[in-house]
Amino acid sequence: MRLYINIDHVATVRQARRTDEPDPVMAALAAERGGANGITAHLREDRRHIQDDDVRQLAAAVTTVLNLELATSSDIVALARDLRPFQATIVPERREEVTTEGGLDLTRPGPRLTETIHRLTDAGIRVSLFIDPDEGAIRTAVALGVPAIELHTGDYAHNWRRDTRALDTLRRAAATAKSLGLAVHAGHGLTYLNVQPVAAIPELEELNIGHSIVSRAVLDGMEPAVRAMAALVAAARR
Ligand code: PXP
Repeated sequence: MRLYINIDHVATVRQARRTDEPDPVMAALAAERGGANGITAHLREDRRHIQDDDVRQLAAAVTTVLNLELATSSDIVALARDLRPFQATIVPERREEVTTEGGLDLTRPGPRLTETIHRLTDAGIRVSLFIDPDEGAIRTAVALGVPAIELHTGDYAHNWRRDTRALDTLRRAAATAKSLGLAVHAGHGLTYLNVQPVAAIPELEELNIGHSIVSRAVLDGMEPAVRAMAALVAAARR
């Protein structure tokens, strides 16, 4: 199982002030030192967190692999073709959403999606589609010729305390997808509390986790961060 760390919300904190800290590239390198097998970043059309230049710098600095999440907008696809990350995960985007709320709608995949898959594949980038754990969507992904899918674990993340239905759905979807020859990834809403049943699904080979890890990092880092500032302030008064 590969663990890819999504560093978008390091950039969210930076964009709150439009300054230069915290730097998502530094966060990516720290994540790698912590054992990340890859770094994931989502360049959204609205550029609310990660910026184009972050992706350029990540592509140069990451020593594991970069998984770039993107929708089908042509300028972002062009940037991806230019930078050639190891992997591109195509996600749906709605401007008003707080986060990626569902998988790609593959009931009728349009020319824009197929063109995006071809443009990325032609550039030598491994393409993964972010989809709901639904058999129809999995079969369409196979028909589209991509090597990998990422199963949206949001439903599981909302319902895991209640019952095992969403987990069973993920298990079935992972088994179906793998039997059809797809590499199966998963992510969204996974936390320190709910990750293990998903991590135990044998057909899964990659997890993408962001918000919970950035949240933990903020709290775990608070004590030394305050200590360092207090020492500076105290030294200035000596
Ligand atoms: N995978 C995909 C495709 C996503 O869009 C996201 C959220 O950006 C994640 C994984 C990570 O989700 P979370 O931040 O909830 O761990």
